[in-house]
Amino acid sequence: MKTGIIGSGSMGSGIAQVAATAGHEVFLYDNNPDALKRAQAKLEKILARQVEKGRMEKKEAGEILSRISFVDSMYAYENAGLVIEAIVEDQKVKKAVFEQVEDIIPDDCILATNTSSLSIASIASACKNPSRVIGIHFFNPAPLMKLVEIIPAVQTDNKTLKKSEQLIQSWGKTTVVAKDTPGFIVNRVARPFYGEALRILEEGLADAPTIDWAMTEIGGFRMGPFTLMDYIGHDVNYTVTETVFRSFYYDPRYKPSFTQKRLMEAGWLGRKTGRGFYDYREGAQNPGPTKDKKLGEQIVWRILVMLINEAADALYLNIASREDIELAMTQGVNYPKGLLQWADEKGINHCVTTLDRLHAEYLEDRYRCSPLLRRMAREGRRFFENPNRF
Ligand SMILES: NC(=O)c1ccc[n+]([C@@H]2O[C@H](COP(=O)([O-])OP(=O)(O)OC[C@H]3O[C@@H](n4cnc5c(N)ncnc54)[C@H](O)[C@@H]3O)[C@@H](O)[C@H]2O)c1
Repeated sequence: MKTGIIGSGSMGSGIAQVAATAGHEVFLYDNNPDALKRAQAKLEKILARQVEKGRMEKKEAGEILSRISFVDSMYAYENAGLVIEAIVEDQKVKKAVFEQVEDIIPDDCILATNTSSLSIASIASACKNPSRVIGIHFFNPAPLMKLVEIIPAVQTDNKTLKKSEQLIQSWGKTTVVAKDTPGFIVNRVARPFYGEALRILEEGLADAPTIDWAMTEIGGFRMGPFTLMDYIGHDVNYTVTETVFRSFYYDPRYKPSFTQKRLMEAGWLGRKTGRGFYDYREGAQNPGPTKDKKLGEQIVWRILVMLINEAADALYLNIASREDIELAMTQGVNYPKGLLQWADEKGINHCVTTLDRLHAEYLEDRYRCSPLLRRMAREGRRFFENPNRF
């Protein structure tokens, strides 16, 4: 099948690699010829490295590359079965491109957007046939991250949804279906991982190295929140938080942090600029954690219970199924355990009493307990009857 990809930046080139590896003929287009050249050079380098490391035969790398055509016009999409857009995150620009590409592609071609934060319904509204428009949200880097969120808009028909799921699964990815709401699953449920850690820091309960130590050593997360924010970049991470906050009509649960905003304003964007919460400049000395186990356990539980609350609320509001919420967090952001399973293990009642205690202490809506957790605690229910489900 022919696959068209619009935009050859980080995401577009990564998706092109995934599709070509799965045997598709790929047409990668960008309106900036330099970007297209950069993408070609990057893909050649990535595949050459795979060969060097013995992960791939030279012949296979050559075949993958030969399946990707770097094109300077969307007219190459004439016979495409799927087109994925991965251009700049701007609703107006995306809508204009969708309107344009619809006149080129065949009637049965699926038209997908890789947007992280825009409404799929709004992008689909630019098309004459919005029923074939859908969100197909890859994570960065696309060739390595297993998870893909599939987001039908209100206009999307069932055939488009089913075909998209099948296709992306045939590329070796795990798909989850999310409702067309801000942040979909991962970027919504993960907010407290950063937000509550920042809040603990701002209150002076612990410093960044101690919070990171607690979350990795005690919590079992792969990276602590401050190391991860420095890695993602404060410009990107702060913007996602602010977008989610605005999109949720300023729900205090998603309130961004001044501490992070100031780092962004200072240009201390993290690893990529040499400074963030930590100093990455050559020879820099970073303070170590206070390895206080009791404090560490308190930190982990406070962040975890906020994550559990988000996951429970996402289920309560039918953003995704129980199974898909677990898959999204374990495969999209590599959490050591599904949050709903974690809630079962900690005890639903324990989650509710902790959230109520935080709410009583701070009198902030940020700590309001999900009605689903409260109802489950009252009825003595668990998320999964079989504790080994995930
Ligand atoms: N970077 C991430 O971590 C990430 C993760 C998931 C989803 N996304 C989403 O994927 C999309 C692309 O993000 P990215 O990080 O790859 O961006 P990027 O800036 O690396 O690449 C965007 C590319 O699109 C091209 N472009 C811009 N306008 C165009 C147009 N009208 N026609 C054709 N090409 C055009 C640019 O020249 C550029 O090469 C965005 O919607 C973003 O929200 C990004």
